[in-house]
Amino acid sequence: MKNIVVLISGRGSNFKAIYETSVKENWSENYGVQISGVISNRPDAAGLDYATAAGLPTVIIDHKHFASREDFEKVLADEADKMNADIIVLAGFMRVLTSYFVSRFEGKILNIHPALLPMFPGLHTHERALEAGVRIHGVTVHFVTAELDAGAIIGQAAVPVLAEDDAEKLAARVLKKEHILYPRAVRLVALGKVTLADGHAQMDEQTSQELAILS
Ligand code: GRF
Repeated sequence: MKNIVVLISGRGSNFKAIYETSVKENWSENYGVQISGVISNRPDAAGLDYATAAGLPTVIIDHKHFASREDFEKVLADEADKMNADIIVLAGFMRVLTSYFVSRFEGKILNIHPALLPMFPGLHTHERALEAGVRIHGVTVHFVTAELDAGAIIGQAAVPVLAEDDAEKLAARVLKKEHILYPRAVRLVALGKVTLADGHAQMDEQTSQELAILS
C-alpha cells in the first residue's frame, strides 16, 4: 500500500477533496493508495475535525513550540515516517519548508498553489491576477523544493477571469478546480505515473492530458 500523509494548517478543503475522492474511487482497492494520516501545525485547524470524523490518525505539531525551523521539521519528518509516508501532500500548509525536510522526502512532496505558476508565486494571488489584468488564471500542483512555489510543475487547471470578478469570486472558482486537480495529481504521483527527474515532472502522454485541465 502507498501511504499519503496530508499536511494542513487550516480549513482543509483540499484535504477533504482528496479524501472524498479516495473513498469514491476506492483508491485502496483499485490502486493500493490510501491516506495514512493528517498532520497540522495548528491545533485549531478545522481540517483536523474532519480527519478525526473520517477515522484518520491525526497529529498536531505546533511550530510555536520549537526554537528553529529545523527542530520543527525533524519532528514533522519523524511523524511522517511513523505514518509510513510515501507521498507528502501539502494542503494549505502555511509553513515554508527548508532543504532539511525537502531533501528527506525529495520528489515525494506535493503542493497546490492558487495561480498558474510561474506567474504569481507567494500570497494574494487572486488580487494580483486581477491587478495584472490576466484573462486566464488558475491553479498549479507542483513538486516542492526549498525555493517557495518554484518546484517542477505536475499539473495545472485554467480558470477564466470574468468581468464581474473580485478576488473572492475568483478564488471560489479557482478552489473548485483545486478540488478536481489535486486528487487527480496525488493519485497519479502515488501510482508512479509522474516522477521528478532533472528538475522536471516526467509523465506519459495520457497522464499529461489528464493533468492539463483547460475547462
Ligand atoms: C488553497 O487555496 C490552496 O491553493 C492554498 O491554500 C488554500 C488552502 O485551502 N495553498 P484549504 O485549507 O485546502 O481549504
